[in-house]
Amino acid sequence: MLFPEYRPRRLRRTDNLRALVRETHLRVEDLIYPLFVCEGEKIRQEIKSMPGIYRFSIDTLLEEVKQAFELGLKAVLLFGIPSKKDETGSSAYAKDGIIQRAVRRIKERFPELVVITDVCLCEYTSHGHCGIVKDGEVDNDLTLEQLARIAVSHAKAGADIVAPSDMMDGRVARIREALDEADFTQVAIMSYAVKYCSAFYGPFREAADSAPKFGDRRSYQMDPANSREALREAYLDIEEGADIIMVKPALSYLDVVKMLREEFNHPLAVYQVSGEYAMIKAASQMGWLEEERILWETLISIKRAGADLIITYFAKKVAELLLKGVK
Ligand code: PBG
Repeated sequence: MLFPEYRPRRLRRTDNLRALVRETHLRVEDLIYPLFVCEGEKIRQEIKSMPGIYRFSIDTLLEEVKQAFELGLKAVLLFGIPSKKDETGSSAYAKDGIIQRAVRRIKERFPELVVITDVCLCEYTSHGHCGIVKDGEVDNDLTLEQLARIAVSHAKAGADIVAPSDMMDGRVARIREALDEADFTQVAIMSYAVKYCSAFYGPFREAADSAPKFGDRRSYQMDPANSREALREAYLDIEEGADIIMVKPALSYLDVVKMLREEFNHPLAVYQVSGEYAMIKAASQMGWLEEERILWETLISIKRAGADLIITYFAKKVAELLLKGVK
């Protein structure tokens, strides 16, 4: 049936008609809230390139987590900013490391909250790379041992899910093996299976003080030009034991999200990264874009492409909008 008999506008006429035929929905359960935690007390330091996002010390972090929890958010993703860095990133697996203490404190107060921890070395190494540097290059296999130690230390502290973001080959298998050996068979792995080498991480590196001091991350993160390679990466991580796979960043890579959705049955997470947050914030602060509408549109697009979960710095804001019934 064609025009004039068929008229698609009939179902767009009112709010309730539109709601009736809406295909994609965003729920508070879909969201993961990333948080930066640093040493010290009473710290709530705004990140310049990410207005509204802060580095928290553990005491203020707990207040923030309480607010998030009360808004209905179910999961947080923690990034640690240690006070000491060294060549091998040893503070990343210290029993009293910043993340280990933060996880214990959060779990004491909010046992039901899903606590996910970033497993990587870049915030902890003096050179800022995501692995151990040997002869000027990031050494894959040496790094695996560090990652396994970090993951086990997070599990000991009470993390529900560990999220390796380093992009070393074989790390999911190595981490799974280490967790199982240490009797943490119940701890899940959310792997950054498809992580592109992206300029959209710029503001994060300010937030986490994790920019590489020499070179860049092109020898381990993926080339933005590749999508078939994304399938291979995801396939490997699933074979190695990933419970959730992730694509990162979000908006420039929705074709990849869609491809993975069609190819795999595992839960799929997508990370709306710091640069994506910064762009929306900057344009709306200039009065050039409407923040809430842009935010909604980007998140619904990410879900439409096939994401089950979205990691976003806007998580609290979205939870508030959902409570108000904004759609
Ligand atoms: C650490 C890591 C990065 C991000 C998450 N984990 C930065 C990087 O790879 O340099 C970026 C997140 C964001 O930009 O919001 N490896």
